[in-house]
Amino acid sequence: MPKWVRVAATTDCPHGESRELVAEGRIVALYNVEGDYFALDGVCPHQGGPLGKGVLTGCLVTCPWHGWQFDVATGQHQASQSVVHTSFPVRVDGVDVLVDIEPDVGA
Ligand code: FES
Repeated sequence: MPKWVRVAATTDCPHGESRELVAEGRIVALYNVEGDYFALDGVCPHQGGPLGKGVLTGCLVTCPWHGWQFDVATGQHQASQSVVHTSFPVRVDGVDVLVDIEPDVGA
């Protein structure tokens, strides 16, 4: 069942930037790609680096620890098709950015 949690105001994450946030105890990485917001699990699947502090280039974020790159819309690792990081649905309600931290798997 979806669980939408407000994580930020739209002004908290400007175009082309990343933010590391906490939603109900879970670390979430929020990205703004030309006004569209995306969210990944904020903990890099390699060795736990902070993906919300990564550099965003277009729709790719680069982990600040060892440089793994992910598509922020899908969680797809750019060098290994077998690695898909957890992503979360995002919606904007007025000036609030909400993330569904418990999306239905396969829904
Ligand atoms: S912890 Fe992210 S690339 Fe190593």
